[in-house]
Amino acid sequence: MQQLEATIAIENEFQIPLYRKRDIALVRGEGVHLWDADGRRYLDMMSNYGVAILGHTHPDVTAAVVEQAQTLISCHQSFYNDARARFIEALERLLPDGLRRISFANSGAEAVEAALKYARAATGRQRIVSTRRGYHGRTMGALSVTGEQKHRGPFEPLIPGIDQVAYGDLEGLETTLSDAAALIVEPVQGESGVRVASVDYMRGLRRLCDETGALLILDEVQTAFRTGRTWAWEHSGARPDMMTLSKPLANGLPIGVTIVSDTVGEKIPPGSHGTTFGGNPLVCAAGVATLSAVSAPEFNRHVAHVGSVFLERLRAISHPLIREVRGAGLMVAVELKRNVSPVLQRMQQDGVLAIPAGSTAVRFLPPLIVEEDHVRAAGDALERALHAVSES
Ligand SMILES: Cc1ncc(COP(=O)(O)O)c(C=O)c1O
Repeated sequence: MQQLEATIAIENEFQIPLYRKRDIALVRGEGVHLWDADGRRYLDMMSNYGVAILGHTHPDVTAAVVEQAQTLISCHQSFYNDARARFIEALERLLPDGLRRISFANSGAEAVEAALKYARAATGRQRIVSTRRGYHGRTMGALSVTGEQKHRGPFEPLIPGIDQVAYGDLEGLETTLSDAAALIVEPVQGESGVRVASVDYMRGLRRLCDETGALLILDEVQTAFRTGRTWAWEHSGARPDMMTLSKPLANGLPIGVTIVSDTVGEKIPPGSHGTTFGGNPLVCAAGVATLSAVSAPEFNRHVAHVGSVFLERLRAISHPLIREVRGAGLMVAVELKRNVSPVLQRMQQDGVLAIPAGSTAVRFLPPLIVEEDHVRAAGDALERALHAVSES
């Protein structure tokens, strides 16, 4: 207990208050469970915002990290490295022909930054088009293509030459895209509430980008491996010119990757981008172990199946506070007619951790190894929380 109080006091006193803190300290994890400082166990239905996809302390990831830590932790990208090459090889096996040139970053926002720079360098154009309610990160470039004013406001003016369009709407897009370097879009908008793009919309985006010469950047930082296909764009076949990846690639270690088509890759000047920590052997070793699990033939089927069981369970909840249940695979949200915080707090007291999306949606991004029983239990906890909140 004393330890918990010290933890809370130190973080509160010295961290800039950028996050609204939940009132527990998470100190241990195993599989789909997390433990707090008081020894209470929680069912993890958020995987720390979509990163621990194989669950916590996965034995293969832990073994790979320990072994690599005892061998070589850092290696600048101006030198070759075996762990990095193995990661690239494992990732390349998951990519289609012609979309296989990669660069490393350390976060989702950084992967997006690189994509925006490459779009300008490869096309010689400047304007970037993004979608309202889209989320791409908090660095200046990524923030400039992020939709929500609450994130942008304190830091304006952001970079010029960004046009925002409605998500899901192709009307008038051809004109907006003409002369644009790129369109950046999430196949499922995550942070703003798990809004799934339709197949027609995604195909329309591909067609309009082809017609206008704008590059299609798909931000799969949150969607990769999570929707029942390796990449969310596979549901529509709308293959991007660039793809940004991050959260799940190394099961929780910080990594970002920007993938570009061979054609785009040829136009990026050598030496024009870089980062000190990118592609470091420690993270790459964790990435190899993660990608090996993700590549198993039954992996996507499992995600799709448990995801559909979960959606069915959530849709069976009949409660006046529910506006809509949305999702793809194991990326699921329940939109409420009220602020979501008390509901999340109740679920937490009940031993289930979920996160918000926007201010009114309960979002579930569980480890992708969850089983039917886990998602049913999460549905039960949400139902109890809704009843408790509406009675209080
Ligand atoms: C789609 C998408 N892009 C980019 C980011 C930014 O990633 P990071 O927080 O690692 O900078 C996020 C984070 O939630 C995201 O969901």
